Amino acid sequence: MKSIAVFNNKGGVGKTTFLCNLAASLSHHGGKKVLIVDADPQCNATQYMFDDTTVDEIYEKGGFTILDVVKPLAQGKGFVKALHVRESQSFKVDVIPGDPSMSLEEDRLASDWVQATGGDIRGLRTTFLFSQLLSQCGNYDYVFFDMGPSLGSINRAVLVAVDGFVTPMSTDIFSIRAIDNISLSLSTWKKKLERALEDVADSIDDLEIDNPCWHLQFVGYLTQQYTAKMVRGEKQPVRAFDKIAKKIPLRIEKQLIAHFADQELPSSTFDLGSIPTLNSLIPLAQSAHKPIFTLRSSDGVVGAHFSKVKEYEENIRDIAVRFGSQVGALL
Ligand SMILES: Nc1ncnc2c1ncn2[C@@H]1O[C@H](COP(=O)(O)OP(=O)(O)OP(=O)(O)O)[C@@H](O)[C@H]1O
Ligand SMILES: [Mg+2]
Repeated sequence: MKSIAVFNNKGGVGKTTFLCNLAASLSHHGGKKVLIVDADPQCNATQYMFDDTTVDEIYEKGGFTILDVVKPLAQGKGFVKALHVRESQSFKVDVIPGDPSMSLEEDRLASDWVQATGGDIRGLRTTFLFSQLLSQCGNYDYVFFDMGPSLGSINRAVLVAVDGFVTPMSTDIFSIRAIDNISLSLSTWKKKLERALEDVADSIDDLEIDNPCWHLQFVGYLTQQYTAKMVRGEKQPVRAFDKIAKKIPLRIEKQLIAHFADQELPSSTFDLGSIPTLNSLIPLAQSAHKPIFTLRSSDGVVGAHFSKVKEYEENIRDIAVRFGSQVGALL
């Protein structure tokens, strides 16, 4: 089992849409067994993968959510005994649904982190809460975490636990800055965590975590395809976007590959691909609660949309293959 976070603290760069479709492709096309943990209090992944009746059932009838993993620990009752997953039939993946009340846990996790970095075992135990969850997920090929757009304490707890992360990017200067922020935050967290683990080396068994350490690896990034204009019948990139897009690989190499990839791989292998702008296919997929590549005429697909669906299927399949070989080489 490999655990992967889809992470960028910049909002609205397509993390959730990409994660759900990549997971669906790995399952539909690759026959992989996949679990998605929705760690974003916005619960967008949960709302995308389940119909409204199921979502109402989860939240109104008290279905199992990520909060049921976090709460017992927060209340001093230790780690959750049994995980209950819910299957999304259209995506062919299992899901631990998100919970809007997770935003209330953000503060608690933040103060536990302060205690953890001071060498407090209880604080460290909460910091490693998702490692404990992952230790119960050995029957999956991949466990993905959807995350909100922040460098907050829930996301830090996810990144402490997972094997690797993938970063979707948009083509703008804010995305380039976000790479610098991600790199700085990860380096700081790593240093603090390693120091705290050294401090508690004598009582490390009390943590009840197998091999507690920072092992996060950068797996790769995706860029958004930006608008191309037609010049003499040929598609040309818009120069303003092109200038920014050209800066991305170098910045990724310097800030993420150099610090967070232990294996010597060519930098080009970290470029997992480009996500096309899909316009109306996105709301169609959201309304049908389906992966984009499974959309049909009964979901409202008409005319030229059919070839877009087909192109997207090939694209996400290629990305899934590149993703799989990066995970194989790095983790
Ligand atoms: N390939 C795409 N083409 C066009 N629109 C897209 C595409 N992917 C996502 N979107 C739209 O962009 C918006 C943001 O997408 P999404 O929710 O996946 O981003 P996010 O990074 O997860 O956001 P957040 O940071 O809030 O979690 C949504 O309205 C979605 O419908
Ligand atoms: Mg999201």
